Amino acid sequence: MDKNHDSDQRSPLAAELRELRDLPARLHVDPLEKRWIYVALAMVGTFVAAILYTGLVKHVHPPGAMETIDSARLHLSEEFAEDRLGVATLPDGSIRVTLVAARYGFYPREIRIPAGQPVTFRVASADVLHGIHVPMTNMATMVVPGYVSTLTTTFPKPGEYPMLCNEYCGMGHDHMWSKVTVVSRESWQSGTTQTTGR
Ligand code: CUA
Repeated sequence: MDKNHDSDQRSPLAAELRELRDLPARLHVDPLEKRWIYVALAMVGTFVAAILYTGLVKHVHPPGAMETIDSARLHLSEEFAEDRLGVATLPDGSIRVTLVAARYGFYPREIRIPAGQPVTFRVASADVLHGIHVPMTNMATMVVPGYVSTLTTTFPKPGEYPMLCNEYCGMGHDHMWSKVTVVSRESWQSGTTQTTGR
């Protein structure tokens, strides 16, 4: 004790630090205020835990790889030329959908894909900013001209879904949509030869 006291006198910094340390005990915090501080801390803790859980356990990450493309020359590109668009089953069995978003539609206008199996979409815009969204599913991304948007998702239920544009892109924005038919795995396997593009 004595030693501390001596050192305080010698160093003003130590005295200040000590004062700072004792501050919370001297502060008057109303019980109601204190309760709300705990509520706020619990909320911050919940949000941090949710971010860590989705990032580390569920692997939900913001898109990392940026892929650029010349939107004005899509028709000449290796991947987005007109005859390359559509649904393709790759050699490893995975399914890839290549789409071009352009005023006012997603091309091809109709696609057929299986349920319960991951499908990777690769989308590029031929003109302006579009958004691609299949309601009632988590298939949604922006399609920014000059970039390739890639997204992998699984459609749980067979059915017919509209594929809508959800970024205002001009007078025809309201009418910019295409049709997605999700078929059961069985009918996909029996009919797959007619529908593969590449
Ligand atoms: Cu395309 Cu709105």
